Amino acid sequence: MSELSVDHLLGIKYLNKSDIDLIFETADHFKKVINRPIKKVPSLRDITIANLFFENSTRTKLSFELAQKRLSADVINFSSGNSSVSKGETLVDTVKNILSMKVDMVVMRHPNPGAASFLSKHIDAQIINAGDGAHEHPTQALLDTYSIREKYGEVKGKKVVIVGDILHSRVALSNIFALQLQGAEVMVCGPKTLIPKYINKLGVQVETNLLKALNWCDIANMLRVQNERMEISYFPSTREYTQQYGVTKSVLESLDKEITIMHPGPINRGVEITSEVADSGQAIILNQVENGVAIRMAVMYLLASKIKQ
Ligand code: CP
Repeated sequence: MSELSVDHLLGIKYLNKSDIDLIFETADHFKKVINRPIKKVPSLRDITIANLFFENSTRTKLSFELAQKRLSADVINFSSGNSSVSKGETLVDTVKNILSMKVDMVVMRHPNPGAASFLSKHIDAQIINAGDGAHEHPTQALLDTYSIREKYGEVKGKKVVIVGDILHSRVALSNIFALQLQGAEVMVCGPKTLIPKYINKLGVQVETNLLKALNWCDIANMLRVQNERMEISYFPSTREYTQQYGVTKSVLESLDKEITIMHPGPINRGVEITSEVADSGQAIILNQVENGVAIRMAVMYLLASKIKQ
């Protein structure tokens, strides 16, 4: 029987191509399940999962929780805002207290890069990284590339540009790793100040001109400017950013071909893309959200099957 090469999902950089193929094949099965009248299976009936969110989330938190319920897992939820973290408790103490309630798996979002990896070395439970600062967001990259595979049949050979705030984006880094593992060509596009210096070492192309980038690509993954991670201004004003890097209907109409628009959410409508673009037939943003549930079911099912052995 095939199994994942890893015991935790800490980042795409720890996966290989066979892991991604296995996750996608398993997600294909679960996507059929969640489109049936009875959407629930008993696969994780004996598994208890804690969702620990030390940073805000809408899509990821709800998607993991729904995926856990569809798999019949027992679920507990924790958000740092109303917890004893504000009284000075450490991350390891918080999680050890939760694990003493016999938890098998932890899904964690945390503002610090490396937090999920740190936890995996100190805690006897399987850890899934639901976003660690500006580092990685592996399930987002899996659902993004799964959505490309769904639309085009395969990811291999596709040209994908990631547009916007690459510097502060965990989605960008995880997508670069996931796209390259699957044989896509990757470009990043944005203001020079929002493109990290190490980017050339990742084997991606860099373009600061949006129209050139969009004319090159098959798919544009539009990122939000992450103001919450910025202590200084990286561009003169939001208006100027939108003029240079915002995708509008007229920008799309000016291209030589029809491209696909993706966005991990949350969208700042009117900044990185207009409502007309976000809601157009070229956008697959809600397909990404739908696929997130099947992908997260697949990841948790495959990791849990390693616990039981
Ligand atoms: N895409 C994403 O991570 O969205 P949330 O921050 O709402 O979870």
